[in-house]
Amino acid sequence: MTRLTVRARAKLNLGLEITGRRSDGYHNLVTIFQAVSIYDELTMVPATGLRLSVSGASLGGADNLAFAAMRRLRERARVGGGAAVHLAKGIPVAAGLGGASSDAAAALLAARQLWGAPVGDATLRDLAAALGSDVPFFLRGGTAFATGRGERIEPLPPLLPVWFVVVVPAVRIHRKTATLYAALTAPDFTAGHRVREQSDRLRAGLPLDPELLVNAFARPLVALRPELSAIGDAMRRVGAPVVALSGAGPSHFTVTGDERDAWRMARELTRLLQSRARVGVCQPVSKPPGVYSA
Ligand code: C5P
Repeated sequence: MTRLTVRARAKLNLGLEITGRRSDGYHNLVTIFQAVSIYDELTMVPATGLRLSVSGASLGGADNLAFAAMRRLRERARVGGGAAVHLAKGIPVAAGLGGASSDAAAALLAARQLWGAPVGDATLRDLAAALGSDVPFFLRGGTAFATGRGERIEPLPPLLPVWFVVVVPAVRIHRKTATLYAALTAPDFTAGHRVREQSDRLRAGLPLDPELLVNAFARPLVALRPELSAIGDAMRRVGAPVVALSGAGPSHFTVTGDERDAWRMARELTRLLQSRARVGVCQPVSKPPGVYSA
C-alpha cells in the first residue's frame, strides 16, 4: 500500500512590516519567511473518505487546515479518492511559527501525489492562498520575500549558516492572528524599507542583519499581554544580540552565528523562564518539502 510522508517545516519571519489596511479586511505586509528545522510529520495512506488523527497536540477534526486543504483539492481536481492522514505535531500550536499553514501545504502536496490529481503548481498555489495567507510559502519553503497579504512569494538564496534560539511563551490569545491585526494602529504601519533592505542583503549573499529584524506586532502584542515583556528581558539578560518576534507572536527568537552560544542561551533561558516558555534551537532549512513513499 502507498504510504506517503512529508515534513511540514515551521517558519520564522525575518522581519515583518505592515504597510496598510486593505478594503477586503486584510493587511498588506512585507516580510521574509524562513523555513526552519522544527517540523510536523504528515503521513498519508489511501482510504475511503477523509480521516485525520493527530498526536502531540489536540487539534483534530474537520476544522483542521490540513483537512480543509484535502477537501478543497478533491473538489478542484474532481478526484474521488479518500485518505487517512496522521499528523505528528512537533511545531508549537498558535505560536507564530506557521504550523497549521505548513500542515495545509504538506497535505496539498501529499494528496496531489496520492490521488494522482491533475492539478498543476499554479492551481496548487491558488488553493494554498485561499486556505491562508502563509500557506503558499510552505509549498516551496526555504527563504522567501513575501508581499501582498503574505501570499506573493519571491524566493531568496539560502541563508548563510546561523542558529536561531526560539522562545515560545505559554500564553493563549483567543483568535490570535485576527486579534493582533485588529490591534494595529497607524504608527504600527511602516513602508517596508527595513525588510526590503534585509532582503537586498540576502539576495547579495550577505549575512542576516539582526538590526533589521523588526516586527509590527511587537507593540500590540505587549500591549495585549504585558507579562510578555519578561520574555524579551530574559533574552537580553542572557546576551541575545537581538529580540525578534515571529509572525503575530507570541514566539520570540534571536540569532547567532555560533552554535555553542545558541545552546548556552537556550539553557539559560530555560532556567530563567521555567514554565513560562518553551525554548529550542533550530537552523534554517533551504530544501523544499519532499513527499516520500515509505
Ligand atoms: O489568511 P489567514 O486566514 O491566515 O488570516 C487570518 C486573519 O488574520 C484574517 O481573517 C485577517 O483578520 C488577518 N490578516 C490580515 N492581513 C493579512 C493576513 C491576515 O488582516 N495579511
